Amino acid sequence: MPGKEAGGKGSGLERLERELERIFASLGHGMYVIDNERTIRLWNRAAESILGWTEEDVLGKDCRDFLGHQDDDGVQICDDTCPLKATMDGSQTIFAGTVWANKKSGELVPVNVSCAPLFDDDGNLAGAVEIFSDVTVEKEIDRVKSTLCSVVAHELRTPLTSMRGYLELVLGGDAGELNEEQRGFLQVVEESAKRLTELVNDFLDLERFESGRIEMHWENLDLEVLVDGAIRIFIPAAEKKSLKIITEFESVPQVLGDRSRIQQVITNLVSNAIKYTKIGEVRIRTRSENDKVLLEVRDTGVGIPEDELGRVGERFFRASTASSTGARGSGLGLAIAGEIIKRHEGELRIVSSLGKGSRFSVLLPKAIERTRISSPGEGKDG
Ligand SMILES: Nc1ncnc2c1ncn2[C@@H]1O[C@H](COP(=O)(O)OP(=O)(O)OP(=O)(O)O)[C@@H](O)[C@H]1O
Ligand SMILES: [Mg+2]
Repeated sequence: MPGKEAGGKGSGLERLERELERIFASLGHGMYVIDNERTIRLWNRAAESILGWTEEDVLGKDCRDFLGHQDDDGVQICDDTCPLKATMDGSQTIFAGTVWANKKSGELVPVNVSCAPLFDDDGNLAGAVEIFSDVTVEKEIDRVKSTLCSVVAHELRTPLTSMRGYLELVLGGDAGELNEEQRGFLQVVEESAKRLTELVNDFLDLERFESGRIEMHWENLDLEVLVDGAIRIFIPAAEKKSLKIITEFESVPQVLGDRSRIQQVITNLVSNAIKYTKIGEVRIRTRSENDKVLLEVRDTGVGIPEDELGRVGERFFRASTASSTGARGSGLGLAIAGEIIKRHEGELRIVSSLGKGSRFSVLLPKAIERTRISSPGEGKDG
């Protein structure tokens, strides 16, 4: 009967609605829905227990007025890089990582968020949904791990210096003549102590960058000169593998940067290109790209698998292809390079093709542009 059928459908829909409401309410993750004006339309129980705000507090309110999402540096992201805004602007799901949200109590809580756009029956954008979880414990574990590692690294530095000092004396004959075997063994010890020192220094360097405790010495730099200097160091290593090093310098403007830090970036990129290439060449070029200067290091090496590319530059990450080259490394070089480039307001792009080679491009603002845009390390000046 038509009447019965319509009634049946109606109750089915209501049941479905109630079911969805129950699922929504009992989800372990915080979840809320906003409309196009960023007014909160739905707010589940987990959101309330993580942030303290009740449905009554938030429904019908603009999320910017009380959630106040911030990034790790405490900068408000509501009008700029807010993941909800980005998900609506780009009509795509975004896994945004960690942001900080205001609790009702006034504290800030780190939350891991992912957002997706919502569409109405006609396919028009109607708002967005954010799912989030409290990552206070994970953040704390990260902090403790970091502190522990820096304390250990600091404590290693002094004994390492003394070990290397005494090794140098013994190898120099200050403690008597050494036979060939003794000298060989001690040279292995010296090499290991050197590697350990480099690792400790790299680690401490990275820690200082991440906590903003690195002072930069700004000056106008010619990339060409710095590249030439770096190449000189690597000629023996390249010759040993019969690799050609080719440079293609376009006449480019100077960049404003910290000499030793930019040198560190170039050195690591060239060292990687040589380490992870068995045959072929390493090509380094500079050119202008809009308001930036581009430095590109390209090789014909082992490459990086596509699914690992996103992790390159994470501390201690080494791609699975690295082991096939037998090249040593600790996986800190690119993490440090990334921090240095960030401090220069630059950009690092990586393109790689497995078994064919990789291209690392660094984009740095031209010196004139940079002085005009901001005073480095001290934020924008207008
Ligand atoms: N040109 C390249 N070709 C292929 N893989 C590369 C290249 N450059 C970097 N990689 C991959 O990225 C990883 C991270 O590089 P990174 O320079 O940070 O560390 P590393 O070279 O292993 O050690 P180090 O801290 O001594 O630099 C490397 O271990 C390697 O797997
Ligand atoms: Mg390296």
